[in-house]
Amino acid sequence: MLLQQKDLGAEYYSLQSQEIEERIRQRITELRNDILILCHHYQSQGLFQFADLSGDSLKLARDAALVQDREFLIFCGVHFMAESADILAHKDQKVLLPHLHAGCPMADMATVGAVEQAYKELLDVGIMQSATDMVPVTYVNSSAALKAFVGERDGSVCTSSNGEKVLQWALAKGEKVFFFPDEHLGRNSAAALGVPDDQVLLWHRGERLGGHTLATLHNARVLLWDGYCEVHMRFLPDHIRQWRLREPDIQIIIHPECPHDVLTLADQYGSTEAIISAVENSPAGSKWAIGTEVNLVDRLQRQHPDKEIHLLASSSCQCTTMDCNQPVNLLWLLDNLAAGKVQNQITVESEIAVLAAKSLEQMLAIS
Ligand code: 13P
Ligand code: SF4
Repeated sequence: MLLQQKDLGAEYYSLQSQEIEERIRQRITELRNDILILCHHYQSQGLFQFADLSGDSLKLARDAALVQDREFLIFCGVHFMAESADILAHKDQKVLLPHLHAGCPMADMATVGAVEQAYKELLDVGIMQSATDMVPVTYVNSSAALKAFVGERDGSVCTSSNGEKVLQWALAKGEKVFFFPDEHLGRNSAAALGVPDDQVLLWHRGERLGGHTLATLHNARVLLWDGYCEVHMRFLPDHIRQWRLREPDIQIIIHPECPHDVLTLADQYGSTEAIISAVENSPAGSKWAIGTEVNLVDRLQRQHPDKEIHLLASSSCQCTTMDCNQPVNLLWLLDNLAAGKVQNQITVESEIAVLAAKSLEQMLAIS
């Protein structure tokens, strides 16, 4: 979903970065009692330096919900994270996104309309008897509307740190599970639970019955939506093989949005928070090649000069949509707040929010 971002105007685009930073600091001092700045690990250092709270997507939403004395939660991350924060926040709090084009292309790959159509087709051919037979699980990287669809059918959200646990719960609850929108997190979680490969099917968007016959659908236990993160698709098995040849004592850690053939060659995998703690807890002199977004890897390199830290791939792996949030957008947002104007507020309609909260709470109960 592409929201319309207002043009900031020449007065902002002509500012030098040092001036932008100084003005942000002044505004933060002025607005201190009203604002909280949250930053995802993939934001560049230019913004990250102003974070009151940082974390992976779920930690940020949960931590934000605990801070009830600030009216404005400025969320330096992507749209679905700001939506989750709005769902979990106190009703008087407002969640603001510095740039409205900061979205997650993977989340946009599973629209509620397309998911409803898939459920309808499966019902029509008798693969499910009722809409709750197929337990829906959605990765937190999804729209609030999809989380609501899942909540309405007694399914659950999952994150990059609890995909296996949530999938295990869903497989115990129903005969089949539909996993949205990330094929790879779903496949990696199913493999970790020992679900046989021929019972894990990739649903091809736009094809009737996802491109499958009735017999293969009957046999399936896990259907995977064919969404992916373009950033994590850039990590390849060859990158791991090359690092191991060059540096036999290197440790490879990757995000579970990477494809399964990459994950099977890595030493460890986990959420951004888990990657950070693995590096932090390793002894001086450790060598790491990391398969996740480049801003996080760069930050780890700066924070741990006593360790050798590399990006797993040779090409730059940047989340360009998250990078739409720049310090100048934060300054613009803060200047507007100081003038009494609220810009770029992310709100989730109340009927959607109630159902989406149900699927988020289901996840918290499982994990
Ligand atoms: P984390 O929840 O692990 O921070 O991941 C979010 C994300 O978008 C990874 O691409
Ligand atoms: Fe979405 Fe990938 Fe960016 Fe994460 S890194 S926010 S999954 S596009």
